Amino acid sequence: MGKAKMGIVINHSENIFLLQTRSNSYAFGIDDQGLVRHLYWGKRINEVEDFELPVLTEVSTNDPVYEITREEFPVYGSLRYKEHCLKVTFADGVREVVYEYVGYRIENGESCEELILELKDRHYALKMELHYKVYEAYDLMERFVVLYNASDETMEVEQLQSGQFHIPYENLNFSNVHGHWGAEQQRFVQKVSYGKIVIENRRGISSHNHNPYFILDRDATETSGDVYFGALRQSGNFSGVVEQTPYGGTLVQMGLNAHDFCLELKAGERFASPAILCGYSDCGFETMSHRLHRFANDFILSEGFRPVLYNSWEATEFGVTCEEQKKLAKKAKEFGAELFVVDDGWFGERNGIDNGLGDWYVNEKKFPNGIDELIREVKSLGMMFGIWVEPEMVNPPTKLFAEHPDWIYHFDTRTSDTSRGQYVLDLTKAEVKSFLYEMLDNLLSGHEIDYIKWDANRPISQTNLHRDLWYRHIEAVYDIVKALKKKHPHVLFEACASGGGRIDYGILGIFDDFWTSDNTDAYDRLTIQDSYSYIYPIKAMRAWVTDCPNFLSARMIPMKFRFHSAMMGSLGIGCNVLKFTEEDTATAKEMIREYKEIRPIVQEGIFYRLENPSANDYAVYEYQKEDQGLIFAFLAQGKIGHRSTTVRFRGLEADAVYTVLLENGELKKSGAYLMQHGLELRLNGDYASTLIRFAKCETGRA
Ligand code: GLA
Repeated sequence: MGKAKMGIVINHSENIFLLQTRSNSYAFGIDDQGLVRHLYWGKRINEVEDFELPVLTEVSTNDPVYEITREEFPVYGSLRYKEHCLKVTFADGVREVVYEYVGYRIENGESCEELILELKDRHYALKMELHYKVYEAYDLMERFVVLYNASDETMEVEQLQSGQFHIPYENLNFSNVHGHWGAEQQRFVQKVSYGKIVIENRRGISSHNHNPYFILDRDATETSGDVYFGALRQSGNFSGVVEQTPYGGTLVQMGLNAHDFCLELKAGERFASPAILCGYSDCGFETMSHRLHRFANDFILSEGFRPVLYNSWEATEFGVTCEEQKKLAKKAKEFGAELFVVDDGWFGERNGIDNGLGDWYVNEKKFPNGIDELIREVKSLGMMFGIWVEPEMVNPPTKLFAEHPDWIYHFDTRTSDTSRGQYVLDLTKAEVKSFLYEMLDNLLSGHEIDYIKWDANRPISQTNLHRDLWYRHIEAVYDIVKALKKKHPHVLFEACASGGGRIDYGILGIFDDFWTSDNTDAYDRLTIQDSYSYIYPIKAMRAWVTDCPNFLSARMIPMKFRFHSAMMGSLGIGCNVLKFTEEDTATAKEMIREYKEIRPIVQEGIFYRLENPSANDYAVYEYQKEDQGLIFAFLAQGKIGHRSTTVRFRGLEADAVYTVLLENGELKKSGAYLMQHGLELRLNGDYASTLIRFAKCETGRA
């Protein structure tokens, strides 16, 4: 028995492993039959000696021990009929895995300790490693599985979930997001009962429909209650299943989608599943978000604040011309934009959706002197330059398609479907991957480009003959961007897929921010941003101010509200700024100036979704960094009664005094007063909003 490392405690005589973070514990053990059995996940329990492996007894012949055992990594085989994490077909046709425990090792990472549990099949040379990374100070863990084929024959992996979790409660609430293009991140909550809840994506290009994470809570609120959560570090196809079991408790699995999937694990090959970043909070959703945001800021996201960008898409769409882009750039600089991004339409014969993708040469009619004329102008204005690409795609009328018709996903006997007038390139082909890398490397080497907006506007169809492409495709995207970043480390990459179709912890870190949605209506955006913030970090949330009436909602929203809504993330401007009135210009200048002041608090601060106790639908958010903070409050439409709301601050020091800067004056109040009593706030008129700033006074009330 003993403490091997701070966060990993092992009872060697009982084969029980206790993973400790600052406030949580996770325990499992290996029984006499070699089964890896889950024992506990929840609030911290200090003593490993408290845990024991109960003797398993069959309930009846129809309820074998394999069914009732809470396993860490159930495999397909034996008397198991439940959801499994792994299904393998061996070369001789045998389709079950029977594992035994081999041993464990511990590896020390920079900020975590890693427990690796070694298992192997009893007959076949298949090794399985269950990895648990323990981030003690972050109250988070990461789980993934590594398979190794030590035989000299190919094995077919038909299902691979990254792990199974057991939650020792029933009647939980499950939440995730649903949605579609222009309506991403629509949060839903549903009761878990008997039967299964499945969320998944089968499209290959991530999706707008579900997001690869789970949140299971026991009637939690923002600030109270048990919340179990996990986010898969993978883009593209995934699946997650939640089931309240007949034997008590709830299980959840997440990993690669088994739909149309088969991975050929060749002799000597190793395959690591995507990791799940997971944790438990006994004090509501706010703590869950804080832990994930902090982890993302410290370990996943690239350093530095995200620049205020201008993007020309909504202003010009495909009708890009060098002269107009130069004018837009000049005007954008006048407001304070730091990065100018030319969107779709600058290349090939791209005058609409039907042509151009694949022909990545600069369009001579639009840029008679090349793209460098625009880049020089942008640089001379002191701004960074960014450009839009959609590398994974090709339009049928292009030179690229004429030269390489076989480079698209296709079956020889079928006609491939176009969508948005384009095909998807088969990135599992080495030559396609190299072509894309070289094309992008040439673009970045030949021009002074600081930012790439990487888009992907359709799902994959007609795949190819290899059923691992669902995984290989996105891995190729990751590889290309990683290699480009190695050579061009200063370049930032934005992940976009028809808006917010590629928001996940797989792409984050390889890319630097997300395009959150093509829906740029500032009011709709509040819902999207609110749901996004449960799991994903604010710094990566790109948000633009665009023109009204909004192209999608036709809503008219005042500039101030539009700015405040977009200032909640990494601010961008997508207006046709050449049409701005003097008043618009003045507002934009002032708002961007203020955004730059508060940017460190917004992008790297602690974020709170504040309660709205009013009968009116106020949306109120707080951000805090060190001794400074701010509050954004919105009211789209007041209801009869002109009710105000009470803003109860979070996370202040009770005894400290804070200066609160309101639009119409300044207050000095104690942290306790602001948190308990709160401030009365009343917004009037449609689409009203305000930004309240506060700071701790060193001198108290003096
Ligand atoms: C997608 C993106 C938009 C824009 C267009 C260009 O829809 O989400 O932001 O870049 O493509 O075609």
